[in-house]
Amino acid sequence: MTLIALEGLDFSGKTSALNQALPFLISSYPNIITTHEPGGTPLGEEIRHTLLTKGQSMSGSKKLELFEEARIDHVSQIIEPAIHNNKIVITDRYIGSTYAYQVGGDHVPVLRVNQGVEKLFATYPDARPSLTIYFKVSSEVRQRRLSMKDHDALDNYDDKFYQEVEHEYLKGIDKISDNVAIIDANQALPQVAQQLESVIREYLAGSGEYANN
Ligand code: TMP
Repeated sequence: MTLIALEGLDFSGKTSALNQALPFLISSYPNIITTHEPGGTPLGEEIRHTLLTKGQSMSGSKKLELFEEARIDHVSQIIEPAIHNNKIVITDRYIGSTYAYQVGGDHVPVLRVNQGVEKLFATYPDARPSLTIYFKVSSEVRQRRLSMKDHDALDNYDDKFYQEVEHEYLKGIDKISDNVAIIDANQALPQVAQQLESVIREYLAGSGEYANN
């Protein structure tokens, strides 16, 4: 089974890199499917809309409940069935985002997040990511990209918030994923997409072992 999670701060460019690398990856691996969180199902998209429009005025624990509700729906409706059908699943954001944003950014107790994650893995053992790819971006590059794009209620926090988020990101993804690769997301999009493609190809061509942290 292969479940690859892409993680990174807002404006780290993971979604654009995935869109650019995907046609090349699919030409070699037609069984790849992509999905994202929060979202991927009708309920998930509804929750996504609520979070992206009203999230900044919600408490950390309320946000956590919504992200968890969306995730259970996503895993049961999309991820598990796809894995059982021998698909290679690439999800744009996953559990790593919860450790990063809710523990690091919103200061929800890590034990509370652990509880939800343990319950998820107990119910859906295949929901553990086999590889997590972290898009590491500097504060300067992130700010520059932020100033050039529209943003929503959840991607415009201050620098201190993002420092705490990144700190928890690196701890959280180590905990939930056996394999972690880190991409230099400060580069221009074609280079970031190229790195993403190479990491995924290397992982899929190998024995399922990958560590670059
Ligand atoms: P994005 O889809 O544009 O990356 O936006 C999703 C936002 O939701 C982003 O700011 C990260 C945030 N998020 C969390 O705070 N916790 C989570 O568990 C997930 C999946 C996303």
